[in-house]
Amino acid sequence: MGRTTIRDLERKYRDDEPLTMLTAYDAPIGKLVDEGGVDMILVGDSAGHNHMGYEDTIPVTMDEQLSNTASVVRGTEDAMIVGDMPFGSYGASVEESVENASRFLQEAGADAVKLETAPAGETTIEIVDRLTELGIPVQGHLGLTPQRMNELGGAVIQGREGPDSAFADELVDTAERLEEAGIFSLVLEGVTEAVAKRITEAVDVPTIGIGAGRYVDGQVLVITDVLGLGGEGYSLSKQYADLDSVIREAVESYVADVESGTFPTSENAYEPIDAE
Ligand code: KIV
Repeated sequence: MGRTTIRDLERKYRDDEPLTMLTAYDAPIGKLVDEGGVDMILVGDSAGHNHMGYEDTIPVTMDEQLSNTASVVRGTEDAMIVGDMPFGSYGASVEESVENASRFLQEAGADAVKLETAPAGETTIEIVDRLTELGIPVQGHLGLTPQRMNELGGAVIQGREGPDSAFADELVDTAERLEEAGIFSLVLEGVTEAVAKRITEAVDVPTIGIGAGRYVDGQVLVITDVLGLGGEGYSLSKQYADLDSVIREAVESYVADVESGTFPTSENAYEPIDAE
C-alpha cells in the first residue's frame, strides 16, 4: 500500500476527516503506533525528556534525532514519518538548514521535517520556503514552541490575550505566511481553543493540535503520555494505558522469580543436541 502521502492527508482534510499523529522514538513502539493506524508519526525532539533522559528538548542533537528517526522508519510501513529538526539545526543559515533537513530524508528515511516557528519568525519562514522549493515537505509548528521555552519564560499557553488580540493577529499572519511558504500541515501547540480555531479557519492546510482544543483538523499526542510511560502526563493529554505499572510489575516478578529460584526452569535451559 505504501506510506501515507501528502495527497492522502489532503484528501482526508478535504473530506473533513480528522488527522491523527503520535510521536515515537524507536522501532518497537513505532511499529505498534503504525499498526494502530495513525496517519503520521512524529519523531519529536520531545525524545529529549521522554526517551533520552534530558531535562528538555534543548540538548537534543542532529545525530540523536537522525538515529531515532531511522529507527522509527525501520520499524514502520504505513504512516508518514516526520522528523523533528532539533534546536540549533536550523536558523543559523539557509544553507545549513537545507543540509540538515536533507539529512532527515537522505540518511534517516523520513518523509518530511518539522520546524518550530516564532510569531513573525522571518528566519524560519524563509527557510521553510527554501526547503519546500527543494522538495523537502515541511510541517510547521506554532504556539508554545518548546525550543523557545527559555525565551517564553516557561510552558506558557499562547493566545490567552484573546482571539482578537494583536498577538492572535500575529499568530494568524505567521500561519498564513507559513502556508505561503509551502507547509503541508501546521502543528498548533499550547494555544487557546479560540485562537487555534481562528488559525484553522484562516489557513487552507490541516492544523494538528496538541493542547489546542477541538477546532483543529487533527490531533497529535506524545506517545509516552498516551501509554502512561515515564511518570505524570499533562492535562492537555489523555492517558490510554498504564505502562509504568505493567513494566514495574513485570520487573518485580522477574526479580522475585530469580531470587526464589522459580526462573529459569528446565524449560528455559539448553540440552546437548543428542539429548533433544
Ligand atoms: O517534539 C514533539 O513531540 C512535538 C509535539 C509535541 C508536537 O513537537
